[in-house]
Amino acid sequence: MNVTSGKIDGSGVTLRKMEASDLLRVLEIESSCYGSESWPPAEFIERLNNAKATILLAEKAGQIAGFVIYSRNWFKLHLENVAVCPFFRRAGIARLMVSRVIADLPAQKRRRVVLEVRKSNLAAQSCYEQLGFRKTGEIAGYYWTDREDALVMEYRC
Ligand SMILES: CC(C)(COP(=O)(O)OP(=O)(O)OC[C@H]1O[C@@H](n2cnc3c(N)ncnc32)[C@H](O)[C@@H]1OP(=O)(O)O)[C@@H](O)C(=O)NCCC(=O)NCCS
Repeated sequence: MNVTSGKIDGSGVTLRKMEASDLLRVLEIESSCYGSESWPPAEFIERLNNAKATILLAEKAGQIAGFVIYSRNWFKLHLENVAVCPFFRRAGIARLMVSRVIADLPAQKRRRVVLEVRKSNLAAQSCYEQLGFRKTGEIAGYYWTDREDALVMEYRC
């Protein structure tokens, strides 16, 4: 894969790890992206305190614009959450954040990134495909709110 030769952009965006003081803004973004399906604060706090989890924030013009959450499992990195504030969308921020997850594979001693995405979420699927993710399976009724199926997508290096 070619996170360097492909289109990444996200110009003017910096990435850093989340700190506890970022929680309120992160919850705002989560809510703006997922509404009633948002993760509760306890999930973010658990990831903040979990050595196997990473929460990366994207900042633009001094504001937190989005985040990704991923965790290290036995054989892979699991990309658990990707969210970009509506105001900052279509500027390459998700592509930049997910490419950073891919770039972290060697340091995490893993060769795969795996994620689930709603079948209807073509925008996110397109972003992941651009970065080299491929569909590897489906999980029927994965989303508990409406029983929509998930696609499983995987990046391998
Ligand atoms: C999906 C999401 C993370 C994309 O964030 P983003 O920063 O706007 O995405 P990017 O600007 O990096 O876009 C990368 C590519 O994804 C695709 N894409 C992103 N948004 C899209 C949209 N609204 N319609 C169609 N394609 C879209 C495009 O292929 C885009 O490349 P292009 O702009 O060169 O055409 C964002 O819309 C979001 O937070 N949505 C709600 C939460 C969500 O669905 N998360 C993913 C769960 S698996």
